[in-house]
Amino acid sequence: MAKSIKFFELNTGAKIPSVGLGTWAAAPNAVGGAITTAVKVGYRHIDCAHIYGNEKQIGVSLKKVFEDGLVKREDLWITSKLWNTDHAPEDVPKALDRTLQDLQLDYVDLYLIHWPAHPDILPSTWQAMESLFDSGKARAIGVSNFSVKKLEDLLAVARVTPAVNQVEIHPVWQQPKLHEYCKSKGIHLTGYSPLGSSGTGILKNRILTTVAKKLGKTPAQVALRWGLQMGHRVVPKSTNEARIKENFDVFDWSIPENLFAKFSKIEQAMRLIRCRGFVDETYSSYNTVEDLWDGEL
Ligand code: A2P
Repeated sequence: MAKSIKFFELNTGAKIPSVGLGTWAAAPNAVGGAITTAVKVGYRHIDCAHIYGNEKQIGVSLKKVFEDGLVKREDLWITSKLWNTDHAPEDVPKALDRTLQDLQLDYVDLYLIHWPAHPDILPSTWQAMESLFDSGKARAIGVSNFSVKKLEDLLAVARVTPAVNQVEIHPVWQQPKLHEYCKSKGIHLTGYSPLGSSGTGILKNRILTTVAKKLGKTPAQVALRWGLQMGHRVVPKSTNEARIKENFDVFDWSIPENLFAKFSKIEQAMRLIRCRGFVDETYSSYNTVEDLWDGEL
């Protein structure tokens, strides 16, 4: 499986493995085992964040997989994210240092602004991110949960174009406008919650289950493969060995064109991850969820 892994090229020239292991909501006592399993299965990309509260455990596991010779640091892609309380420019390098210490690494392959939490200081936050890029501690920088409008505002002041915008994307929330915009600016889109997260019923969507049945695959595999064929990388989360394997078995087959076309007919729901809780002065500068998403709900 590992042999056929596919990559996408970022605007930095780096090649990013197209399927990464998500670690949001991965319990600290389970995440270490999930990392080892994933690396053994062939994953070469781990998606982390300070706020997930498990970077220390991931660090211990990474150290061990390197020591055991399962993979070399340079063959692994590690992403992490800057939390909302660290947007003051002087806090940005400290936040990355803390993450690097927790992960026991010298650099991350990609560092993202986790949320556009404070648009008033975003230009200076981004400048601090650009310094991290210059220093080599973050080999690529990008953003997450940015609408078209927020990307436009950022591009107006950015010296370094973000390499990535990581957002919720799955067959029931496809975000075609954002997709087109990112493509036109050379910003790689990444789909988080590519399985629609747990308990949302997205994997039961009729088109997804019909296509899965026809291809002899699971709905999860079809949802992930759809993402890859749309041209974005996906970061499914699992701490279960069988599902970690299942989610990586998406490279040596494809959804034929006639079935792929059916996905554009899927009725779009609302975004699942709306983050109403961020509309609160501790975490962000927004008064309403509509402002946070610029109406793209
Ligand atoms: P688990 O960790 O027990 O496998 P997302 O990446 O969209 O946020 O979805 C993650 C959720 O989906 C988790 O609850 C995860 O549970 C579950 N999950 C992961 N892989 C699969 C799969 N192949 N089929 C069904 N559910 C899955």
